[in-house]
Amino acid sequence: MSKPAPPELVLRTWPEIETYLAASKGIIVPAGSVEQHGVAGLLGTDVLCAEAVARRAAEAAGALMGPPIALGMAQFNLGFPGTLTLRPTTLIALVVDYVSSLARGGFERIYFVNGHGGNAAPIRSAFQEIYAARSLHPGERDRPLFLRLVNWWDVAAADALRKKLYAAAEGFHATPSEVAITAALHPERVRPAAFGPAPPAPPESALIQHGGDPYFDAADHRRRYPDGRVRSDPARATAADGAALLEAAAQGVAADYRAFLAAA
Ligand code: NI
Repeated sequence: MSKPAPPELVLRTWPEIETYLAASKGIIVPAGSVEQHGVAGLLGTDVLCAEAVARRAAEAAGALMGPPIALGMAQFNLGFPGTLTLRPTTLIALVVDYVSSLARGGFERIYFVNGHGGNAAPIRSAFQEIYAARSLHPGERDRPLFLRLVNWWDVAAADALRKKLYAAAEGFHATPSEVAITAALHPERVRPAAFGPAPPAPPESALIQHGGDPYFDAADHRRRYPDGRVRSDPARATAADGAALLEAAAQGVAADYRAFLAAA
């Protein structure tokens, strides 16, 4: 018996994609970021987590996985070297072109697995740019197009697990849950103990409502959060927790993706 084809689009041929499209119009696309994750967190944490969740979900659902969007909207972390950002308008343009290319090829249901809060607003704006273009200039040959974005940590089972494991120590950036997943993926590169004890929590600013990374500029961000973490205790992460979180997120995404494909 031959092994099933890998989920990665980049490891398929165009005739294989044509065959796939005859059976399914869906695809899963991971979106991440390359940015500081505290003193002991990998710069690629967000894209590594999104890609790992997306790949396992794609395997579970028999779906294709598009190439990861590695760079995200991370301007607020530019005060820490190694961080790379796309401007919001660049990310919107990238997503518009990525989705438009898939749609041109015959995909109709495109599901983004997001690993970085700062991506959510630009990616959702990109979706509306695409819909606006279709609405303003409808084409006779327009096929249906449905787009969805899910943050892996918001999947019910993963969200419940990270709260159970870490409660308030989860924080908002360089979270123990994302560090745990990278420790499961790259145990030789991630040593949670190296984060050291949590520094005194910075006085919370009433100007910052967490969720979706609504931060100010890079200089402000480094001043508020000097070691890079945002109210988290990533030293509590373990590779075993990471494996469990990865499984919970991937199974949740796979179920949600199947529902997305079936939705009227
Ligand atoms: Ni992150």
